[in-house]
Amino acid sequence: MNFVEPLIRIMEPEDLGQVLEVETNCFTIPWTMHMFEDELFNLNAHYLVIEVNKKIIGYLGFWKILDEAHITNIAIHSDYRRLGYGKALITALLSKAKELEIIAITLEVRASNLAAISLYESFGFVSSGIRRGYYSDNNEDALIMWLKVATL
Ligand SMILES: CC(C)(COP(=O)(O)OP(=O)(O)OC[C@H]1O[C@@H](n2cnc3c(N)ncnc32)[C@H](O)[C@@H]1OP(=O)(O)O)[C@@H](O)C(=O)NCCC(=O)NCCS
Repeated sequence: MNFVEPLIRIMEPEDLGQVLEVETNCFTIPWTMHMFEDELFNLNAHYLVIEVNKKIIGYLGFWKILDEAHITNIAIHSDYRRLGYGKALITALLSKAKELEIIAITLEVRASNLAAISLYESFGFVSSGIRRGYYSDNNEDALIMWLKVATL
């Protein structure tokens, strides 16, 4: 499959059926419809979807807390990985962050998730700590990563 110029836009309630398909494809403990609905009502939450040929193939969410963005999740359907769509979502996040005058971006990621860690590192995120046993399903550690505004 080749990279096709995607459309990245704000997530709408009507998108949730397709977003859940991406979610169940990507995670062993997927978020439920109800969890996404709550997020769409949260005034501090910002969710983007990425569409290719009018089909939602991924999404990214973050919470704006004061002048920081906390990424809640990013996912690209397995059929569309390694084509640059994850990169496109993070690039869209960075421009949204500028618009919202955010000075730093943070996230937690499973210590074993090398794909996501390399994606974040390619944008200059650095690992700044570990939350031991953060993931309750397998007691895995989380890396805490940050990107400071100076590098935005
Ligand atoms: C992490 C994820 C979003 C990356 O999406 P993607 O569209 O495949 O990423 P991209 O194609 O934009 O890759 C950008 C860069 O990230 C790194 N990367 C992505 N996947 C990688 C992999 N499997 N192994 C190593 N590096 C990888 C590479 O540096 C890559 O650049 P390159 O292809 O030029 O080498 C995707 O793998 C995914 O949805 N995983 C499941 C959900 C998940 O783990 N989310 C993160 C939760 S914190």
